[in-house]
Amino acid sequence: MRKVITIATLMVAAGAARGAAELGMELMQNIEDSNRSLASNIALHDGKAAIADAKDLDGLFAEVETHFTQRGDAANAVELSKKSRSLATRIVSAVSSGDFSAATDAATDLSRTCRTCHTFYKKE
Ligand code: HEC
Repeated sequence: MRKVITIATLMVAAGAARGAAELGMELMQNIEDSNRSLASNIALHDGKAAIADAKDLDGLFAEVETHFTQRGDAANAVELSKKSRSLATRIVSAVSSGDFSAATDAATDLSRTCRTCHTFYKKE
């Protein structure tokens, strides 16, 4: 409930500055869902589902990368988007070779990268 209110508040705040290059809340919600699904699929050793989630995340972070590249003043966020994509790719190859331990490490790094970017770029 509290989260719903937070999102609504953010949407109102974002509405004032709505432009072509706005980072959509839906995009981040999809990232949140895929990231959560990825963590549980790695824990369950469901390789097929984990690979699908990691590939989704790569595509979603490509959109995030484009957004911050177009913004032009957020080199750090562009780097963090690229880092997220390379971690997603690393997860795909780790899971493909059955190394769920390496996949777990990369997924932990990925979640840390979410927080790093939010610290700098997400307005409360
Ligand atoms: C490159 C920067 C960046 C990365 C990496 C990033 N985010 Fe975000 N995220 C943002 C920004 C900026 C916002 C705020 C969006 C806005 O205000 O338009 C946000 C908002 C969100 C929101 C919605 C806000 C809320 O309070 O509910 C969620 C959920 C979210 N991110 C999840 C994630 C997850 C999970 C990851 C990692 C798998 C991640 N993000 C990685 C930049 C990033």
